[in-house]
Amino acid sequence: MKNIETIKDKYTSIIYNTNNLKDLDKVRISAVGKKGEISCMMQEIGKMSIDQKKQMGPLLNSLKNDIINQIDQKKKELENIAIDKALENESIDMSLPINLSEGTLHPVQQVMEEMAVIFSSMGFSIALGPDIEDDFHNFTALNFPPGHPARDMHDTFFMSSKNDEIKKVLRTHTSPVQIRTMIKDEPPIRIIAPGRTFRCDSDQTHTPMFHQVEGLYIDKGIHMGHLKGVLMDFVSKFFETEVEVQFRPHHFPFTEPSAEMDVRYERIGSSIKIGQGGDWMEILGCGMVHPNVLRACGVDPDEYQGFAFGMGVDRLAMLKYGMPDLRDMFSSDTRWLKHYGFGALQQANLATGLS
Ligand code: PHE
Repeated sequence: MKNIETIKDKYTSIIYNTNNLKDLDKVRISAVGKKGEISCMMQEIGKMSIDQKKQMGPLLNSLKNDIINQIDQKKKELENIAIDKALENESIDMSLPINLSEGTLHPVQQVMEEMAVIFSSMGFSIALGPDIEDDFHNFTALNFPPGHPARDMHDTFFMSSKNDEIKKVLRTHTSPVQIRTMIKDEPPIRIIAPGRTFRCDSDQTHTPMFHQVEGLYIDKGIHMGHLKGVLMDFVSKFFETEVEVQFRPHHFPFTEPSAEMDVRYERIGSSIKIGQGGDWMEILGCGMVHPNVLRACGVDPDEYQGFAFGMGVDRLAMLKYGMPDLRDMFSSDTRWLKHYGFGALQQANLATGLS
């Protein structure tokens, strides 16, 4: 039998000189694979005398382990080198000049950023939730009991599931983020939740996927006056002009009392002027958070109260920037995006104007 030290030196040098994973695997097979050199040597132990076995057994075992360890170590080294190389190839040259005429910010993104700027100036932070929701967060905890007819009004996309207990839906509104936030955080809570929502509906003013911004304010002694103040302040800042609003009684299972807020507007030809004229347009739903909703989230309604609101971002973008058809927003037509898009480096802020 060959000298163990010689074999060890041979493989140590081969492993050292191997510089790719494929070759390293070949080395592994030829040394410790089923028919590898060291494996074959180990098979010969069976033919040895007891004394030889006692001597050679441990030596061969430690040779095998040593070679396996060296191969593993080398493998890690080569993998790290491969990652570094990939990162090097994927690096971005930050000194490249930006072509500002290519690529624009979608108006929906722009409007969500404008809303974030306005509400953060009032102390709201941003909360997010998943697009795929369960029945509990989308309905039950929001005071839609199972079988309640209001569930049907949402034209819900139900997802097929193997487990009937956790029925999944594409969220029909951003209100489930209220539930997630109240379960996770202690009051006082002041958040807005922008995001995608889904309903099985499509025409000039409805798309199956649309965007909402939810608002939630929970603290001691919060009342409708606070709700009205925040929303009136919001619309004037958003439309960058004085806007008269009216609150009409409405019904949502998760707020009591509930209201819809309209803004005064006028249609001049095909364009819409917000803040003047004799017509009213509904732009959002709102109300005081229902005690059942607070209870479902472990908040004591005798101690804390609050308000919530939800508004359609796409509709507000249409109104502010004068787009005639909601469906164009999601048709990925580059001519439309060039016309209505916003500069990639244009940041909405209250100091220099939002848009
Ligand atoms: N979730 C409601 C909707 O999508 C809007 C809403 C939010 C109403 C919060 C009241 C309070 O229609």
